[in-house]
Amino acid sequence: MKRLLIFLFAITCNVVNAQQISNDVIEKIAFGSCNSQDRPQEIWYKIIDQKPQLFIFLGDNIYGDTEDMDILKKKYDQLLEKPGYIELKKNTKVLATWDDHDYGVNDGGKEYPKKAESKELFLKVFDEPAVSERRNHEGIYTSYLYGPKGKRVQIIMLDTRTFRDSLCWAGKDEDCIGEYGKCTDTSKTMLGKEQWKWLETQLKVDADLRIIGTSTQLLQDFNGWEGWINMPHERERMIKLISKTKANGVCFISGDVHYGEMSVLKRKGLYPIYDITASGLTHGHSCAGPNILRVGGCYMQPNFGMITINWEAKNGPQITFELRDAKGEVKLKQETSGKQLSF
Ligand SMILES: [Fe+2]
Repeated sequence: MKRLLIFLFAITCNVVNAQQISNDVIEKIAFGSCNSQDRPQEIWYKIIDQKPQLFIFLGDNIYGDTEDMDILKKKYDQLLEKPGYIELKKNTKVLATWDDHDYGVNDGGKEYPKKAESKELFLKVFDEPAVSERRNHEGIYTSYLYGPKGKRVQIIMLDTRTFRDSLCWAGKDEDCIGEYGKCTDTSKTMLGKEQWKWLETQLKVDADLRIIGTSTQLLQDFNGWEGWINMPHERERMIKLISKTKANGVCFISGDVHYGEMSVLKRKGLYPIYDITASGLTHGHSCAGPNILRVGGCYMQPNFGMITINWEAKNGPQITFELRDAKGEVKLKQETSGKQLSF
């Protein structure tokens, strides 16, 4: 009977292209971004100490920045040879999406001419199965389901590069504020038509907690660098899609900016939406841009994120978000629950 149910569940999920279904109950997820292959990567050992079942790479997993696939491969090989990363993979499943530098071009979008070749390499580096649905469409967006009903975690990995239109210049580059403005042309897209359509079907999949990995920050209010706020209409579309689909349990994790922070959006008619940014694994930034949705400060040195889920808590699952430093110590922390993340 149990096998039959899993089979039926698999069929249902295939309709919406959720993939790699496992009945493992997920309690610990680590995540990070911005990982220079040219720097030491001792932080992997501190991540291993946390015993995560999953590690989510949120982009800039290497600094490729090239249209030459031989060079990109060599840089990926440097990552694959890092002893700490090899050690991590022994007991932790690695899931990944990309950002600009591993995609192949700084701040790049759909105009990058080698996106198909770069995708092939990416799928190889991250051991994507030959039968993966990820190979059936353009871009690398995908999703995963773990755990039985009542303890089901959905992980949605967005591709914010393959379909993204060009950014809009603000014309200035000040100390801690970058040069990009907010595009007013509402035809510009972050995800592209097909990925948006797919995402809507994903948000209707039965799950208790949904972790959406986006390489660039969703909620960062405005720092002039890259983020969903470059296209405010697309950021708004994401928030409205959560309301429209009545998807419970959504939270976002992001990277890219070379500092860690936690943002929370509170809006009438919606539960609190979190965006937990862990960046970078190997290096930090000298300053953080303004962000009115930031809670609890920010952290400028190398860091990684942790999500811990206590499914046995008295009033339903308790969820803890942490940002940990290169020694494994907690620098930022937010707690919520399945109950709070629901309509
Ligand atoms: Fe980036």
